[in-house]
Amino acid sequence: MLSAATDESPSRLTWLVTVNAVPEVQTPLEVGLRGSTAIVLGAGPGIGATTVQALASAGCVVLAADLNDEAARSTASTSDGEVHPVHVDVTDRASVQTLFAEAEASFGRPSAVVNVIGISRAKGLADTTDEDWHTMLELNLRQQFVVAQEALRVLARPGSYTAVASINGTVSSPRNAAYGAAKAGLVSLVRSAALEFAEDGVRVNAVAPGIVETPRLKGFFDSTGMREEFAVAVPMKRVARPADIAGAIVFLVSPLAAYITGQVISVDGGASIKYPLPLTG
Ligand SMILES: NC(=O)c1ccc[n+]([C@@H]2O[C@H](COP(=O)([O-])OP(=O)(O)OC[C@H]3O[C@@H](n4cnc5c(N)ncnc54)[C@H](O)[C@@H]3O)[C@@H](O)[C@H]2O)c1
Repeated sequence: MLSAATDESPSRLTWLVTVNAVPEVQTPLEVGLRGSTAIVLGAGPGIGATTVQALASAGCVVLAADLNDEAARSTASTSDGEVHPVHVDVTDRASVQTLFAEAEASFGRPSAVVNVIGISRAKGLADTTDEDWHTMLELNLRQQFVVAQEALRVLARPGSYTAVASINGTVSSPRNAAYGAAKAGLVSLVRSAALEFAEDGVRVNAVAPGIVETPRLKGFFDSTGMREEFAVAVPMKRVARPADIAGAIVFLVSPLAAYITGQVISVDGGASIKYPLPLTG
């Protein structure tokens, strides 16, 4: 069953638009989403949680769905606005169907579905096992097919489906053959679905992040001291914050992007357009 969002947390966050390292621009978003319903799958800490907070701050009623119930509850309790933590296992089609059926029964047809779920496991091709391949394709691609298919049945018209891909789906790096193949497949899935549903009024897009300092990667950076090494490789000289990715998602979901479909927006500080000559600092 859908459970109610808890209101008690003393540490509720206001989602803010932030601009690079300069003082934060404190602007609650007004982008035409007030009162609409959005479902975010993969609402645990990181890009998903920040996306939930951003959409709630923009006035959406948000269903924060995750396999990890505690993580979904935590996201809800640290969001401003109306956020309901809900359970889903995207590897199980029946669970996805239940999520959308109960959401529709409680809140009506959602106008946006955002699927953040994905997993990366860097491994050389020679060491990649069948199990690694299966997991990468399952969690980065097949579940997106299942969630998109079920979402497209229930989404309001106009509506939108937004997937989180990766710049690994459009450019390549070593030790990412399975992950990159899955994300490249997701890019193709998004484009094809966009064409099929364009006339019907559903826009289908993807955001492709570069390196994002989620709580998980923060632990890696803190323990290895490699934050700077990653940052200097990015033209903008910093890795992304989850809010950078959430901002692009809110834009794609909103009426500001009403004429945008089938697109993959790279949010990577310029990393994917850089030819690696040492000509500039
Ligand atoms: N972090 C980065 O640097 C980075 C870079 C490029 C792309 N991405 C993409 O961004 C997305 C989010 O990345 P993140 O680092 O925030 O991920 P994360 O691993 O921190 O979060 C993923 C969430 O998905 C949930 N989840 C996992 N399996 C599930 C299932 N079967 N059913 C329902 N929920 C499930 C997890 O509980 C977790 O809350 C992924 O698609 C990832 O590929 C991340």
